[in-house]
Amino acid sequence: MDAAYDSRTASVDDTPEEAPALSAASADSALRLTVDGPERMREVGLRLAGLLRPGDLVLLSGPLGAGKTTLARGLGEGLGVRGAVTSPTFVIARVHPSLSGGPALVHVDAYRLGGGLDEMEDLDLDVSLPESVVVVEWGEGKVEELSEDRLHVLIGRAEGDETVENDVREVTVAGVGARWAAVDLAPLAG
Ligand SMILES: Nc1ncnc2c1ncn2[C@@H]1O[C@H](COP(=O)(O)OP(=O)(O)OP(=O)(O)O)[C@@H](O)[C@H]1O
Ligand SMILES: [Mg+2]
Repeated sequence: MDAAYDSRTASVDDTPEEAPALSAASADSALRLTVDGPERMREVGLRLAGLLRPGDLVLLSGPLGAGKTTLARGLGEGLGVRGAVTSPTFVIARVHPSLSGGPALVHVDAYRLGGGLDEMEDLDLDVSLPESVVVVEWGEGKVEELSEDRLHVLIGRAEGDETVENDVREVTVAGVGARWAAVDLAPLAG
């Protein structure tokens, strides 16, 4: 097995400081994974798709090139939606309809958007959300008010020599709100 995990029900106490939205106090369920390469990240996305249902909001955080879109691609495959999930230069949000009667995937890259939800009003995410799975890259501080329930996925480089490029990522998944309190995230570890 490639993904090691450490399942917790109460807190994430070693969350990096740059990720306040994943603070221990706000997590109702949490899991940490070590993800060894892009193909494994895609598989995490595939497995995550199995936990999601219409109305779910997923925030993907982490630095440039962390693997957010890679995970979202697996998610799109797992949900069975039309079109490959990519990170196009000029598109902020793209709707991928389901090919099988399930929820659409709305994939948002909020990197170029400043401010809060006001600046995202044109995207009508509040309209899409009840019937879709909405996944937002760079959404922290911008889209939380869309839903009291949300899943935060923080992708970071593995600890060690920061100067050495490698394919290992540490992924923290934290569910916030009643929706996630009862969800066992362990299946994400495979
Ligand atoms: N464990 C890993 N998980 C995901 N991607 C990895 C991993 N190891 C290496 N990579 C590589 O890192 C890159 C991640 O790119 P990706 O577009 O998914 O990142 P991103 O977080 O969406 O970046 P951006 O902030 O620019 O949108 C890809 O080139 C991928 O092959
Ligand atoms: Mg991306």
